[in-house]
Amino acid sequence: MTDPVHHPGRPQNDARRLLITGIGGFLGSHLAELATDVGWEVSGVTRATPTDYPHVAIDLAEDGATRDAIERCSPDAVIHCAANARTNECERHPELAERDNVLATRLLAQACADDRPPIPLVVCSTDLVFDGTRPGGMYRENDDARPVNVYGRSKLAMEQVLHEMGSHAIIARLPLLFGPPAHSGGKGSFLSGWVEHLRAGKPLVLFTDEWRTPLSARDAARGLLECLDKGQPGETYHLCGKERVNRHDIGIRFARHADRQLGFDAALLQAGKQADVPMTAPRAADVSLDGMKALRGLDFDAATLDNEIAWTVASMASVQ
Ligand SMILES: NC(=O)c1ccc[n+]([C@@H]2O[C@H](COP(=O)([O-])OP(=O)(O)OC[C@H]3O[C@@H](n4cnc5c(N)ncnc54)[C@H](OP(=O)(O)O)[C@@H]3O)[C@@H](O)[C@H]2O)c1
Repeated sequence: MTDPVHHPGRPQNDARRLLITGIGGFLGSHLAELATDVGWEVSGVTRATPTDYPHVAIDLAEDGATRDAIERCSPDAVIHCAANARTNECERHPELAERDNVLATRLLAQACADDRPPIPLVVCSTDLVFDGTRPGGMYRENDDARPVNVYGRSKLAMEQVLHEMGSHAIIARLPLLFGPPAHSGGKGSFLSGWVEHLRAGKPLVLFTDEWRTPLSARDAARGLLECLDKGQPGETYHLCGKERVNRHDIGIRFARHADRQLGFDAALLQAGKQADVPMTAPRAADVSLDGMKALRGLDFDAATLDNEIAWTVASMASVQ
């Protein structure tokens, strides 16, 4: 007998209802689209960002709010995309990073663990748990994490709280994410900011000494659903792109596809060094990730960077 055709992250057995926190955010809105496409009945948690998906509007860090959301949505699985991911704001207001990234996750993980049966949970973390000082980067899941800024420290603290609780949550560490805003709405990625800046005719300095393994939002969404489907409870996986590139490389590759379609002058892109630009939050030099564990354990393999940049540009151009 042959196996039924398996679609990535399709809900298994009777599991149907997926709750996505941060559903109005950049990643949450892409995840909602993909999960709906593969058969999940999606609902979400948002705080202020609007969404067209069924949702509860709550602050996850408020006592009782998470339990309330779970009672109202009665999900079969939860993917936690909500976070304060604004590195400069976290640096200026560490108490907000602690509240939104550590406290909110602890309350959510506890509520998922207390349900009967416990609700499978995937939690998004970041490549910025690493200090990026290792020449060549390519960090693995069990390499020492030593974040250099408040945001990274709050996400590492979040991971540590989950381990201390003995949580069954799967931790998905994500790299720099890119893509268009989701069709259904939601926030854009850093590329939307770049395009706006370049269209205004302003030069854009991009670092040649900041290395990442960028991943498209639709690949990240696929990887998160694979975590639910095939991930081991309590494990950490790196979901990353195929290529280690610096920020300036990303700009050049983006401009190659985008400058005519999105109407900006690629000559405005300039190479620079981190040290040349004063920044509120310190930045790590090379937080590129090694994705072998996810490839072997989840069958997660990202598309090529050029493929995903082309998708991004085509999608951004179609809504101009
Ligand atoms: N984007 C990246 O490049 C990247 C890279 C690595 C890891 N990650 C991780 O991936 C996840 C998704 O990131 P993203 O880029 O989609 O972020 P995002 O666009 O900023 O979305 C995050 C959402 O979380 C919501 N939120 C924050 N605190 C909340 C709270 N206490 N209660 C309820 N909702 C809350 C925010 O809602 P409101 O706006 O309504 O307040 C926001 O819409 C995060 O865990 C982030 O750390 C992102």
